[in-house]
Amino acid sequence: MTIGSPLPHDSAPLHVTGQARYVDDVPLPGHALHLAFGLSVKAHAEILSLDLTEVRKSGGVVLVLSAEDLPDMPDLSPTVHDEPLLATGTVHYAGQAIFLVIAETHLQARTAARRAKITYRDLPALLTVEAALAANSRFEQGPILWSRGDITTMSSAHTVVEGEFEVGGQEHFYLEGQVAVAIPQEDGMHVISSTQHPTEIQHKVAHALHLPMSAVRVEMRRMGGGFGGKESQGNALAVACALAAHATGKPCKMRYDRDDDMVITGKRHDLKIRYKAGADASGKFIAVDFTHLIRCGWSQDLSLAVADRAMLHADNCYFIPNIRIESHRLKTNTQSATAYRGFGGPQGIIGIERVIDHLAHTLKLDPALVMHRNLYAPLGAPPQTTPYGMQVEDSITDKILNSLVETSRYHERKAAIDAFNAASPILKKGIAVTPVKFGISFTLTFLNQAGALCHVYQDGSVIVNHGGTEMGQGLNQKVAQVTAAVFGLTAAQVKITAADTAKVPNTSATAASSGSDLNGKAAENAALTIRDRISAFIAEKHQVLPETVRFKDGQIRVGAETYDFARVVNWVYQARISLSSTGFYATPKINWDRVKGQGRPFLYFAYGAAVTEVVIDTLTGENRILRADILHDCGNSLNPALDIGQVEGAYVQGAGWLTTEELVWDARGILTTHAPSTYKIPAVSDRPDIFNVALWTDSNIEDTVGKSKAVGEPPFNLGMSAFFALSHAVSACGADYPALNAPATAERILMAVNRVRNV
Ligand code: MTE
Ligand code: MOS
Repeated sequence: MTIGSPLPHDSAPLHVTGQARYVDDVPLPGHALHLAFGLSVKAHAEILSLDLTEVRKSGGVVLVLSAEDLPDMPDLSPTVHDEPLLATGTVHYAGQAIFLVIAETHLQARTAARRAKITYRDLPALLTVEAALAANSRFEQGPILWSRGDITTMSSAHTVVEGEFEVGGQEHFYLEGQVAVAIPQEDGMHVISSTQHPTEIQHKVAHALHLPMSAVRVEMRRMGGGFGGKESQGNALAVACALAAHATGKPCKMRYDRDDDMVITGKRHDLKIRYKAGADASGKFIAVDFTHLIRCGWSQDLSLAVADRAMLHADNCYFIPNIRIESHRLKTNTQSATAYRGFGGPQGIIGIERVIDHLAHTLKLDPALVMHRNLYAPLGAPPQTTPYGMQVEDSITDKILNSLVETSRYHERKAAIDAFNAASPILKKGIAVTPVKFGISFTLTFLNQAGALCHVYQDGSVIVNHGGTEMGQGLNQKVAQVTAAVFGLTAAQVKITAADTAKVPNTSATAASSGSDLNGKAAENAALTIRDRISAFIAEKHQVLPETVRFKDGQIRVGAETYDFARVVNWVYQARISLSSTGFYATPKINWDRVKGQGRPFLYFAYGAAVTEVVIDTLTGENRILRADILHDCGNSLNPALDIGQVEGAYVQGAGWLTTEELVWDARGILTTHAPSTYKIPAVSDRPDIFNVALWTDSNIEDTVGKSKAVGEPPFNLGMSAFFALSHAVSACGADYPALNAPATAERILMAVNRVRNV
């Protein structure tokens, strides 16, 4: 059984022995040059003068480029033409690249980049969503509005809750920072980039150099994490390297140091959610009204799609008969916020989870009960539709929730926590459950396609190349398992090579959790084409039907005979039959009209639930996660070991977003949290001591690869249960609703404790 085997990550031995090769490990010729950007220290200003004399004189400097030298300024934007490689006259955020230094060493480039003399004339900087809203600074004409039913029905509600909720952004903190290399070729450019989107890099480099895409080849072996931060934000480095390589004729490399990476690149979108929600006495929703004020930063990047996905997840697992969602995509003088695990989905989900928490508190009901009252009709019952008109045909939230509440002994532990809190004046515990429904497919329908290339060599060994990129999630291993299953081989017998635009073209970003869904199917199709040829050949020799030929355990069974796979392959080769094929896959059934906000944007939903228990110190706000129990739906898991790894990592990353990871900009718009010393991601010691993760194993009802479900992003949302457990712990201090903002840092928890205590 190759599909479904809990095999370790194919690169695990290389990761732990330090042999896994990242872009920075690729040996370069001795004459390679190194790049660094000179950055703006102003959030919004006109550049009055730019004196680069000292930069040019600095040791090892070969070339310095600014807007003056590039009348035909390359653009970096993945969506619209609003991101010049270097600032042209005006800077729009502190961290924007103004000039480019090309030097003999990395350190020389960085040192020189600090030596510019720049004078600015300050312009008003819009740093907050309120400021942007007041100035009507946004990326579309006005807010986007989707609604269903009539929210004035709220007036008939038994209880109405209302509030404004701040949700912070998040730094990707991939362990390997942004990095690229460009090596000039006789007729084009070869780029090696740490990117989730090789085709985008190819496209942007080709555009910058006025070359056809066919003259640019982009390669990507693996990333040391991407998390959405390498969908578009690697463009700057790759384009800069390509320009410099073109200008100097030498290989050029650029790597951001951690501080530069944090100052330059975009993060998860922070937002403010205004909500008003009405329910009957049992907690059943009557109407919900959301306003999302989303801080998008200075350029559009992927913000519209991210904000759309937030709206698409504003319902989470719940049927809301009357709902209105208004979304403002605000343009500010900050880093251009970008994709980050969940791609806006978490920002949407947390709104309705906040509403449930608030409503349950007000009605003095258990939040789990309020959740239950509102769940979409379960799989098997007549489906209900989402606010955007998609039928929810596969809802298993009820089953997952019931099972997890039972196995985690939620109710029993909650009663014990209440007793503990009554007797404990300083330490307070909290517990919360969060269910999740997450839509799978790119909302930009055309992106839901993938290609693969499979070769079987005459010795029976197999290579697969696919359009996805490996960033630690284990995509290559899953695709190897799928391909191996077709040929009846083991995963180890299938080799996966680096993503390469010259092998598989026109790829989509490895994103939206759809890497294995799309590329797994494409690779399977490529392998099936070759298998069919092998079957036809050997069946004819044995005068049997091709459908009767079996591929199993490295052997091929035909009639009464059994041959080694390699032996038959060699015969096929000698018979002059191709042992190579491309494969292609396009997701069926989906359609989406983003203007109307109607359609079926997703092929299916992935589900899950988590129960988290926390303890807080009410004197300091310090807190810990004591225990987390998770039940997560991966359909028929392609690889339970990798899937559990994804669920664990996603949960911890999600909890980090809402607890310790705080981004702070000062009054001038300068990011003050730009290193691990000031920005706190969860450490190994922050992993819950008790961490029970199980997979829900019912098959996907849709025809996905191996009937599996995507796993990369959905469980990120499970981290929310840590946040709501903190809210529960705070609520033990007084009668008022804690109205905790995120991230719930120790300071914010302490403030909330004092608020509910009325001190
Ligand atoms: N897991 C690891 N280890 N590293 C990553 O960078 N990125 C996440 C998720 N899991 C990521 C990860 C994000 S944002 C996405 S969209 C998916 O993996 C992408 O891969 P997949 O589509 O193959 O699941
Ligand atoms: Mo993931 S945010 O879709 O790269």
